[in-house]
Amino acid sequence: MPKELKTFRIGDVEIDFPVILAPLAGYSDLPFRTLCRSMGAPFCATEMLLDRCLMVKPNKPLYISRSDDDDHPIAGQIIGSEPETMAAAAELLDRRGFDVVDLNFACPVRKALRRKRGGYIMGEPELAIEITRAVIAASGKRPVTLKLRRAFKENDREHEAFWRIAEGAFDAGAAAICVHGRSVETRYTGPADWEFLASVKKRFPNNTVIGSGDLKNAHAAMDMFEQTGVDGVSIARGGLGNPWIFRQWCDLAEGREMYMPTLLEQKEVMTEHFRLATEFYGEVRGTRNMRKFGIKYATMHPKAKKLRVAFVAVKNAADWLAVLDNFYT
Ligand SMILES: Cc1cc2nc3c(=O)[nH]c(=O)nc-3n(C[C@H](O)[C@H](O)[C@H](O)COP(=O)(O)O)c2cc1C
Repeated sequence: MPKELKTFRIGDVEIDFPVILAPLAGYSDLPFRTLCRSMGAPFCATEMLLDRCLMVKPNKPLYISRSDDDDHPIAGQIIGSEPETMAAAAELLDRRGFDVVDLNFACPVRKALRRKRGGYIMGEPELAIEITRAVIAASGKRPVTLKLRRAFKENDREHEAFWRIAEGAFDAGAAAICVHGRSVETRYTGPADWEFLASVKKRFPNNTVIGSGDLKNAHAAMDMFEQTGVDGVSIARGGLGNPWIFRQWCDLAEGREMYMPTLLEQKEVMTEHFRLATEFYGEVRGTRNMRKFGIKYATMHPKAKKLRVAFVAVKNAADWLAVLDNFYT
């Protein structure tokens, strides 16, 4: 187990330790990122932002693309199908002060695939490279990164398109790639292929490679480092309901016993998360948003089933506090 907290770089952005918050549609908004940063997350990403939507009202940004002065370093992730619109969106992110521009070539959602976005591009290496080049040219000095899956189709054993995209992107000047070790076709089923992640790092020893997939807890994050040699790992579902995972990873890396929050500490963090969300969205939308986080937090609770039901019924701030008072004593 490493006894030091290794730093790593995405272009000129230095990241204090190598466990970062992944882009998570519906979850990695400003309130959740603020909370994760307070637990030690050194780098976060927005959820995927559709290039065209970003540009609709540049002076009144969508909630999902909002950030603030403390929310750095931050990657803005964009998704789209054309080099020109992706480049225009990247330029906007650059102007708005995002530290990194991340390109989503991984999303497996049917609507994205039908519209030739996200994971669709894993099967179109030339388009992927063209978009990467256009975005790098439009991003000023901001580093550009790619989110990839290991292949488009499960039976693409040769991964030929993957290697063409990765090599083309690094040749074009991409600062890092983040690889989710599943194919687009399998979406989220089956185990992520960590051996593939190891082969990617082996092929690009001098480039930044970040691993994603099956990082359920801090132990898994540590195992991914040891088994694959990647430079950083990207926490996704493992951070939902457990923002302590960043602190827990530090404990493991420094040889300490892993921090486990008491019920009372969980209550304090959930109170703060609710406060951040309702301040950001207003009470109605903030409460609606927090219901799905509540369901995730419930998994850590001894009465998880009953607590989930209680969170689903929450309608306002008073209900949220009442659920916390009832279950977290
Ligand atoms: C609810 C949800 C939303 C996601 N949204 C995004 C996204 O907007 N952009 C992206 O690149 N990946 C997204 N992902 C993929 C994750 O970043 C990550 O690569 C994937 O969940 C694998 O990691 P895990 O098995 O540790 O969860 C999403 C995953 C989930 C479960």
